Order: sequence, then C-alpha cells, then structure tokens
Amino acid sequence: TRQELAAGAPSGFLSIGHRGASGHAPENTRLAMDTAVRLGAQWVEFDVQRHGDTLLVFHDDRLDRTTDGQGRLLEQSLETIRQLDAGRGETIPTLQEMLDHIDRRVGVNIELKSFGGTAAAVASVLREYVDQRGWVPDQFLVSSFHLRELREFRRLAPMIPTAVLLCGVPLDLAACAAEIGAVAINLASDFVDAELVADARSRGLKVYVYTVNDQDDIEQLRACGIDGVFTDYPERAVFVDRAA
Ligand code: G3P
Ligand code: CA
Repeated sequence: TRQELAAGAPSGFLSIGHRGASGHAPENTRLAMDTAVRLGAQWVEFDVQRHGDTLLVFHDDRLDRTTDGQGRLLEQSLETIRQLDAGRGETIPTLQEMLDHIDRRVGVNIELKSFGGTAAAVASVLREYVDQRGWVPDQFLVSSFHLRELREFRRLAPMIPTAVLLCGVPLDLAACAAEIGAVAINLASDFVDAELVADARSRGLKVYVYTVNDQDDIEQLRACGIDGVFTDYPERAVFVDRAA
C-alpha cells in the first residue's frame, strides 16, 4: 500500500497523534497537538492526571523527563508546575486549556492516567463541553488501563464513547468490553493478532493499536484490519483510499 499525504478523502483508518505528534514536538503540549493536526492526524491522544481540583495533561509520575522541573507531579504545587518548561517554551496545560486550544479540529482521545476522582472530574468537564460548548460526544474517546475508573466515567457520562486500554491479551474480550460498554479496545502492538482483531470486529468493537512508529509496521497492521494506530509520527499513518 502506497502512503499518500493529505489531499483526498481519508480512509476509515485513523492516524492518532500519540501525545500529539510527539516525535516532532514536546509530548502532551499544545504545540504537539497543532503539529499532529498539521501532519494530517484525524485524532490526537493525550494523558490526563488529577492534581487536586485541576486536571493536567501529563504522562509521567515525575516531572524530570519532560520538563525542567524535578520530583513527583503530585508532590509539587500547581503554581510550580504551571511555571515549568515542558519543552520549547511550552507549559503543561489543563484539560480545559487543551480542549479550547484543539477547538474541535480533530477528535480527542483522553487517557485517564491517574485514578481516584479522575473519572468524575473529567466527566464533569466533558459534559460541560458537550452541553455548553458545541462539542459532540463522538468527538471524544475516553480510555484507561484503570477499568474501575473507566466504569465510573461511563456511569457519569454515558453519552461519551469509551475504550478499554489493554497491555496484554484479554482472556475474555467480549466480557471485558461489554462490562464497560466500550466501543473500542486500544491494544499494545506486541499483542495484536489477526484472530483477536477478527473477534473484536465481530463484536462491533474498533481496534486501535499503540504505539506504532515504523511505516512497515503501520501498513502491516492496517492490512490486519485494525481501525487505526497511535503514532508519534501521524504523517506515517495518513492514507487515502485508492477507491476514493
Ligand atoms: O493510549 C495508548 C497509549 O498512550 C498508552 O500508553 O504509556 O503512551 O500512555 P502510554
Ligand atoms: Ca497515553
């Protein structure tokens, strides 16, 4: 399959910018989301953690890897965190700042990274964005490895689609997804096999695979029938239907 950039009707296959276009710009920043949009991603993914009453877009437990700060995120004051440089002068955004910045240009996959009150806080924000700010539920996909958190999110915001994040192969895929009422499974690339994909699809579940940066791997997975990939290089997963 020949990759073609941009122009033309997109296929159903989704290029999902992992932490934005994190291969090109500092992860989980507004710049990374802008870059993903520019490179043709149809969706972006980012991580959310609750810090008191604030929801922050941030992946790690610690500040060290991606900012000029040190120590654990949750042990620093919000004031300190908000002054940090997250790369190229970018700051760590709140969930609301990130959504306002994205401004419905692409779909948004929010990963609930922390647990204990994260689902409730995110549900409250997304309900407001749907009820008062013109977003539609299908512009969101909320996912988590923490199934309890995802279940709680679903209870509080049943109109917003959810995806079960898996880092292995479930013993019972049907039970796993049905219990949450998820529309998708987000699967680590090491665990993809054709049988699992076929099983998921026969149950009406989408399959998105993380994190895939190699062009050949992306094309092989696409041929396997999956619905999209999380990638740090969204331009590598933008395809145009040959029939289009
Ligand atoms: O949501 C897919 C992927 O982002 C999960 O792993 O560590 O990149 O958050 P991680
Ligand atoms: Ca993530």
